[in-house]
Amino acid sequence: TDPDANADLAVLVRSIPDHPRPGILFRDLSTLLLDGWGFRTAIDRLIATLDAGRVDLIAGIEARGFIVASALSYALTKGKIMLRKSGKLPGEAVGIDYALEYGTDRIEMHVDAVRPGTRVLLVDDLIATGGTALAGVSLLRGQGAVVEEARFLVDLPALGGADRLAAQGVACRSLLA
Ligand code: PRP
Ligand code: ADE
Repeated sequence: TDPDANADLAVLVRSIPDHPRPGILFRDLSTLLLDGWGFRTAIDRLIATLDAGRVDLIAGIEARGFIVASALSYALTKGKIMLRKSGKLPGEAVGIDYALEYGTDRIEMHVDAVRPGTRVLLVDDLIATGGTALAGVSLLRGQGAVVEEARFLVDLPALGGADRLAAQGVACRSLLA
């Protein structure tokens, strides 16, 4: 695919050095979110990469992943699963600890969110090391979901996350690298 295909969206992403820790170049999507055309176009282009007939539910990862998952869920008329950070879910939940580019965290899901065989599309705003997304895949698969596709607005390919997902049988597509 053409690496410049989404150059019109790339200019809407701001890069902030040393956030949240020294040495991290933070790719800030809040500037893309401020732009109505930019967000709508990003969502439309993500949808164009999907075969919606092969998706039963969309799983978004707290917090920024919810923004993307919510838009896809609305546009495709698919239900969604909130993969939440620790201690937020009111019902019976299962969780997994993981490492990401700049720390460690935990995500959880309700045990009754999927049935065995439910085809889940995993969604987040950005993939870096893939620690977060892989935790999502493990959590969902642990509950019987089939997870074969993931979508992100941004991939940081030097950090290898998309390759790690591919090695686990999850096909990743992102608009920007
Ligand atoms: C960011 C981003 C991804 C994750 C990617 O989330 O939204 O979820 O990091 O990093 P990784 O590929 O190295 O795991 P963050 O944990 O900062 O949470 P937020 O969405 O609540 O800001
Ligand atoms: N999540 C993990 N690494 C990140 C980065 N460099 N910029 C924005 N979000 C991130």
